[in-house]
Amino acid sequence: MVTFPTLRPRRLRKNKLIRDLVAETNLTASGLIQPIFIKENINEPEKIDSMPGVYRYPPNDHLIKFVEEVYSFGVKNFILFGIPSFKDEFASSAYDKNGIIQKSLRLLRQTFGEKILLITDECTDEYTSHGHCGIITQKDGKLCVNNDESLKVHALIAVSQAEAGADIIAPSSMMDGVVGAIRKALDEAGFTDTAIMSYSVKYASTFYSPFRDAAYSKPAFGDRRGYQMDPRNAFEALKEASLDIEEGADILMVKPAHTYLDVIRLVKTTFPQYPLAAYHVSGEYSMIKAAALNGWIDEKTAVLEITTAIKRAGADLIITYYAKDIANWIKEGVPF
Ligand code: PBG
Repeated sequence: MVTFPTLRPRRLRKNKLIRDLVAETNLTASGLIQPIFIKENINEPEKIDSMPGVYRYPPNDHLIKFVEEVYSFGVKNFILFGIPSFKDEFASSAYDKNGIIQKSLRLLRQTFGEKILLITDECTDEYTSHGHCGIITQKDGKLCVNNDESLKVHALIAVSQAEAGADIIAPSSMMDGVVGAIRKALDEAGFTDTAIMSYSVKYASTFYSPFRDAAYSKPAFGDRRGYQMDPRNAFEALKEASLDIEEGADILMVKPAHTYLDVIRLVKTTFPQYPLAAYHVSGEYSMIKAAALNGWIDEKTAVLEITTAIKRAGADLIITYYAKDIANWIKEGVPF
């Protein structure tokens, strides 16, 4: 008896067991990184209007409780963002021994020891009065972000974060040479084992808006298009990534994630020997959240589909405000 068709891809989609058996991509809690906003001079967690479900935490028991909760779902990696009460032109509160991030690192290390991995965002925008990712000087009568002056400050911040206990420093300024400057400063200070996860391919994206609302880091003048990448470019990502590799980056990153799946794939296939992180950013979080709160989309399925797509594109690690929820949902079983 001759039947047609003989080749039937549907055989491998027959039921959930067989689909799980042949699934190419699986999310794991070990590959998730939970961002946390930590704010100086507050006593209670504060809601962030543009990011429902995300809070600014004080560096006290509330922070510890949140980390415990995330940990209990299986997520052990955290990236910390500081919101200082004092800002100046030089971001001096970013490298203060008693700065908000330094205090929080010590508190979390004392409480959790080596059970958690602590990553610090290394930048100046939350700490400067002008909100830029570097130091501002005048050039030809115009204010600009002075690349090489900024490197000195980024090196100070990185060393100060390492001293306070960070396992991984994540420079996010997109200054030329920042990875090399930080690597050199860390090594000279004896932190040869502190890793660098570079925001290698960071686009000038509108999807950071809720973050800037959360961290009060909107630039007071101008924008970040003079240092962050142009959304029209993909291959330029390879230039940024290869420079960071030469300068000593241990882990690369593409940011945002959902909007830049092509870039994730390109960077991963070009440099497969480097772990690649993707940052599912604040605006990408808030868009899903808003649709979910309106009942227009099923939040769990949407988040798992999008983050699986980010991993399928080539990301090994995902930084996401949904980390805790994803870890919980994958325990329940994915709905695919
Ligand atoms: C810079 C930094 C930003 C984000 C992470 N690190 C803000 C920016 O570049 O304007 C954005 C993350 C997000 O939107 O979730 N410190």
